[in-house]
Amino acid sequence: MTKRVAVFISGGGSNMVQLLDSMTGDHPARACVVLSNDPGAGGLEKARTRGIATEVVKHQDFAGDRPAFEAAVTAALGPHRPDMICLAGFMRKLTGGFTDQWQGRMLNIHPSLLPKYRGLHTHARALEAGDTVHGCTVHEVTAELDDGPVLGQAEVRVLPGDTPDTLAARVLVQEHRLYPAVLRRFAAGDRTPVYLREGQS
Ligand code: GAR
Repeated sequence: MTKRVAVFISGGGSNMVQLLDSMTGDHPARACVVLSNDPGAGGLEKARTRGIATEVVKHQDFAGDRPAFEAAVTAALGPHRPDMICLAGFMRKLTGGFTDQWQGRMLNIHPSLLPKYRGLHTHARALEAGDTVHGCTVHEVTAELDDGPVLGQAEVRVLPGDTPDTLAARVLVQEHRLYPAVLRRFAAGDRTPVYLREGQS
């Protein structure tokens, strides 16, 4: 049966666009809603343009009460009946109460080769450490931040003269390849990790 996918965003939604555009034809999933914690997220309009329903649950309305925010998210999702969630640049931490509810049914993309560099500023940290290889990871979401079983990774070479911005741009290109590839496999019930390398077709 076709899986119904909710995509969560906080920003421009370039990964979301890749996911939405991948779910056509014989793909085992379809997007049912895009949800953002920020009404100004650029990705919302891109989702609407593609005919996908959108929901906004402003985290500021909950003044740091994460369970209350998550209860509102759950209520907003209800009518769309998602089977799974893809976090795509969703920049709010989720509590164990929410992640447990979606265990084995929620994916995230993170701009580092986990377990390296959980959290923020991953590109600057990779450069500071002198890494020669960096990249991105898609993983199942658990209660720990940027943790959980790895479902795919894409490697990017660090080049002489790279800045956090130039490196981020090349990692993003690989994010756009990796996330749709993992989602297609995962939605078909296959958790075998996908491994990609820059420059490889
Ligand atoms: C992406 O690089 C994604 O990996 C990162 O935010 C960006 C969102 O870009 N996510 C995280 O850092 C989550 N820990 P997008 O809105 O263009 O997809």
